[in-house]
Amino acid sequence: MPSYKLYKMIHLAGVVAVCMSVAGMSFHAWLGGTKEAAGAARKQLMALHGVAMFLSLLGGMGAAATAGFLGGEAGFPHWVMLKLVLWLIFGALPVLPYRKPEHSKWLFVAVPLLVAFAAWTAGGFLPLTR
Ligand code: HEM
Repeated sequence: MPSYKLYKMIHLAGVVAVCMSVAGMSFHAWLGGTKEAAGAARKQLMALHGVAMFLSLLGGMGAAATAGFLGGEAGFPHWVMLKLVLWLIFGALPVLPYRKPEHSKWLFVAVPLLVAFAAWTAGGFLPLTR
């Protein structure tokens, strides 16, 4: 059985790889590149995105379960529901760069903000100041 630490490593590596695949497409679209011109590289980034989405979900759910956040008295907490919505949003991100290339540069601001929000969500909105 993987430990909490290993699940969290898988989760975070998956999140980083999802962001890298979106960043690659966003930069290309920002410079005027099209889906067609991206060719095989886009397909490889899409494959990376798919594998990384799977790993982020596996790692996230595994970490939540091993930390005791899921099942039993904990049930299925609201923050896990919210994380799943965020996960779906990250899943849809690759459609944006080539569909709205004029906005693709804003993904370099919006995606880190979304990641920060997802980090705050993890474990249930713990206080940000002490
Ligand atoms: C793609 C969407 C997601 C992003 C960007 C994301 C991002 C992050 C980040 C940056 C952290 C580190 C912050 C921390 O450890 O406190 C984290 C932790 C965590 N995430 Fe996610 N996450 C996502 C989806 C999910 C999903 C679907 C689950 C499933 C339950 C999940 C469960 C967790 C858990 C359990 C932790 C560790 C919380 C703790 O240490 O208390 N995440 N996530």
